[in-house]
Amino acid sequence: MTSQEQMDALFAEARRAADAAYAPYSHFRVGAALLADDGTVFSGCNVENRSYGLTICAERNAVLQGVAKGRRAFTALAISTPDSAGPVGPCGACRQVLSEFMAPGAPVRFGGSGEAVDTTMGALLPYDSLHELADS
Ligand code: THU
Repeated sequence: MTSQEQMDALFAEARRAADAAYAPYSHFRVGAALLADDGTVFSGCNVENRSYGLTICAERNAVLQGVAKGRRAFTALAISTPDSAGPVGPCGACRQVLSEFMAPGAPVRFGGSGEAVDTTMGALLPYDSLHELADS
């Protein structure tokens, strides 16, 4: 179980991660913080590219940071978009990649400078499929 205090701390870490965003094209900073099953936190920011399509979202950056350090299970996620007032959820590509390493019940919080949304991985990616491929 992830406590509210843990989610608050994770969200604060996501906000800090957004400060490292490389977003000269959109000017839209995003930070993500993932809690690994051993208690370690991995964070990431969006990294844009002048070819636009090669932009890496903060969420996928955070997943790759964790996997590169040997973690393959993440129990909670927070996303901060300080340049928006309202909450901005993860893009479709990130939902798919996150679902590879997060259970449907894992809590997710995302928010801008105002109110945040608390939801779950499963709510963000319902009717998730292809899990049988990962079991082989
Ligand atoms: N972005 C993220 O990093 N995560 C999201 O979930 C949505 C979008 C980034 C990509 C791009 O650098 C900027 O936000 C504007 O789309």
